[in-house]
Amino acid sequence: MTHKPLVLSGMQPTNTLHLGNYLGALKNWVRMQNEMPCLFCVVDMHAITTDAAYGKPEELTRATREVAAAYIAAGVDPARTPVFNQGQVPEHAELSWIFNCVARLGWMDRMTQFKEKSGKHKERSSVGLYTYPVLMAADILVYKATHVPVGEDQKQHLELSRDIAQKFNNDFGVPDFFPQPEPVITGAATRVMSLRDGTKKMSKSEESDLSRINLTDDAEAIANKIRRAKTDPLPLPDSKDGLKDRPEAENLLNIYAALADQDRDQVIAEFAGQQFSGFKQKLADLTVAKIGPVTAEMRRLLADPAEIDRTLKSGAARARAIAVPVMEEVRRRVGFIQ
Ligand code: TYM
Repeated sequence: MTHKPLVLSGMQPTNTLHLGNYLGALKNWVRMQNEMPCLFCVVDMHAITTDAAYGKPEELTRATREVAAAYIAAGVDPARTPVFNQGQVPEHAELSWIFNCVARLGWMDRMTQFKEKSGKHKERSSVGLYTYPVLMAADILVYKATHVPVGEDQKQHLELSRDIAQKFNNDFGVPDFFPQPEPVITGAATRVMSLRDGTKKMSKSEESDLSRINLTDDAEAIANKIRRAKTDPLPLPDSKDGLKDRPEAENLLNIYAALADQDRDQVIAEFAGQQFSGFKQKLADLTVAKIGPVTAEMRRLLADPAEIDRTLKSGAARARAIAVPVMEEVRRRVGFIQ
């Protein structure tokens, strides 16, 4: 059996979204809406695995609305595509429990993001942080979604989702019940790096705000961060090979290419031999031109939180209409009397 194409993706409402979230994921979501049906989720249940949201209900609510506003401001059309928060669709949690019984400890122990996030104090981390990728598999498979547009850092989690789908199908004797969801990792900036250190990922949790461009930054902040972005003393290279061991130059060129919708080789050719100062000015102008309208639209949407809440509620109802029959079948296959 082939599964009908369906996209699902999500972002955590923790702190503020940044250029990495936009270029690695959101920009591709907007494009994919024209290719197949989509569902976009604000993963508030994942967010409570972090200190930024756990025990901070008002902050979580605020950030959930902000992420929903970012989706819509970037071009997700909530009339066509359900935009909802995970917490309003209980089927995610229900399937996640069943998947906790499908996934093996050995698989979970390989998850590098848990190791990074739990750091030296694994025993003090929540159980939720450990099983986080299992909930992610449930987010996708509760809709039998086939395509998952994400940044490079989510690749391993997607592999786990595929393993869980396959093991469920085998163990419950229904070969094609769940699809094998495909990661969609595309564009020139699938892994945007910190502006302060080209070897580290741009991240919401990095302490220095200068390391990232937030979707809420104004033009002045954007220009300032790009001006102060770490570089090296050499001029820009004239070929891809010239980027070897120059992570900062590579990162800025990738960002430029992704924002301009150009091929990276084209961008390298355009700036070959130039100094960073002139390039940074052009990059700042481009970033402001592309991000500025998104930020302005986010602000406009956030001025009416009740409207965002209505959008999330309607999105959740439409998402549930897909998830409920899948869960009924899962319960039956597992053997729960209903
Ligand atoms: P989150 O909230 O950390 O990030 C949201 C999306 O942004 C991408 N991303 C990046 N892309 C390029 N460069 C970066 N520096 C960068 N930082 C983040 C992420 O890859 C992601 O696509 N586990 C997910 C959320 C999630 C999910 C899902 C995604 C929960 N359930 C189901 C897809 C399907 C996460 O933490 O994303």
